[in-house]
Amino acid sequence: MSFTASTLSGSKPEQYAQLAAQARALVHGEPDRIANAANLAALVYHALPGLNWVGFYFYDGNELVVGPFQGLPACVRIALDKGVCGAAARTRQTQRVADVDAFPGHIACDSASRSELVVPLVHGDALVGVFDLDSPNPGRFDEEDQQGLEAIARIFLESLLESLP
Ligand code: SME
Repeated sequence: MSFTASTLSGSKPEQYAQLAAQARALVHGEPDRIANAANLAALVYHALPGLNWVGFYFYDGNELVVGPFQGLPACVRIALDKGVCGAAARTRQTQRVADVDAFPGHIACDSASRSELVVPLVHGDALVGVFDLDSPNPGRFDEEDQQGLEAIARIFLESLLESLP
């Protein structure tokens, strides 16, 4: 399959609908989580403006371990009681942080990061990991970004269904 990301256009919800369609096409028929995480990180990183890190952490039963991503090298392991990623994994609620410097325990993998969105990846009762996006711009993510990126996270989870226990 060849894939060329087309430019997103229209309102922000319309752009996220186009991005979701591209994401579905990328993972179609493929259950491998590394392959799908890698392609979705690349898709989102290149499609959306104002991002310096997009990627996945996977839960190993004890802590979060970095998976496929785009951006600078990142912290490898994050305990569930640490940082924005840990908070998303522990609470199983999306964490939308407008100012990471004001978030207690934020882990600065890339000192350029100013705002962050972390979507937990949960299948049934099982924590799979988190989908993490960082921006060098304060307040980069609004409610529409959150909804659009939660939809991308769902597409990732649905792609795994054959390979999850
Ligand atoms: N800032 C995150 C750590 C992961 S990096 O941003 C890639 C956190 O506080 O959990």
